[in-house]
Parts: sequence; C-alpha cells; structure tokens
Amino acid sequence: MAIRQIREIGDEILTKQCKSVPKMTLRTKILIGDMLETMYEYNGVGLAAPQVGVLKRIVVIDVGEGPIVLINPEIIETSGEQTGEEGCLSVPGKWGIVTRPQYVKARALNQEMVPVEVEGEGLLARALCHEIDHLSGELYVDKAEDGLHDVSYHEEDEDMDGDEGEETEE
Ligand code: NI
Repeated sequence: MAIRQIREIGDEILTKQCKSVPKMTLRTKILIGDMLETMYEYNGVGLAAPQVGVLKRIVVIDVGEGPIVLINPEIIETSGEQTGEEGCLSVPGKWGIVTRPQYVKARALNQEMVPVEVEGEGLLARALCHEIDHLSGELYVDKAEDGLHDVSYHEEDEDMDGDEGEETEE
C-alpha cells in the first residue's frame, strides 16, 4: 500500500462525475488499500477516490468503528437533520457548518463486490453524505452555511471525532 497525493480544491478532477466500478481488479484492490492508508495517514474519517485523482465510485470511511469500503454507493434512505462542522482533506485548514440528515442508509458493493447496506447516524451519516457527494463532483464548501473558517483556533465540536483534539476531515 502507499500513501497517495490528495487533490485539493481548485483541481478540476474534484468537480467531475465518477464512473461505476463494474468488476474488482487488482488495480482497484490496490487503489482501495491506498485510499485507506491515505485516509489514516491524514487523520480523515473518509476519503473518496476522486480525492486521490481516480474517477471511480469508491469511498472509504472510518468514524472510529473500523474501515468501511463502499463501491458504487447510493443513498437510499435519510431522515432527520443535523447541523454541525465539516471538513475535507481536499480543503485543508478549513471547516464549515453543514446541515445533513441525522440518519442515512446507503446501498453499495463491498470489496468482494457483494451488495451491502450500511446505515448510520450522526458522524457516520454525515460522512456517508460527504463522501458520496464527492462522487458527483460536489464539495461541502458549496453547502457551508456560514462560509469557511480557519481550523487553527476553534474548539472541537463534540459531534466530530476529536478524541485526540485533531481535526477530522473527510
Ligand atoms: Ni471530502
């Protein structure tokens, strides 16, 4: 596995639609391993393939409960609402306030290309929305309700995974 370079806002690859993954290949397996390693290296709670320059519908998420790999994910159910802080590894040093569903259920394929459903509340629901948005070329910055803020001097919001006082970015 290897750490890949994270594409940052302004890179047009982050604005493009990703393509479905029709079958698992060695190349895709390596990509997924690299995405996980890259997410952990940068203390992210999620990472989408376009963030490492690959226009495939793949996301990885870990909100502190172990890695989740989702291929061709789709949100199939949402409920409720949460308003809180969000960041993105592709928008370093910034955060913003975004309203998302409190509960999200997604359908996807796992690494064995077997259909799975993942459901989550709170941070996991937020991460699912954020990462799946990346696959349509959408960044949270366009949903941020009060513009972007610098991360340096704010207190961690408890709904983000800040157990070590570090920023969580997706
Ligand atoms: Ni992101």
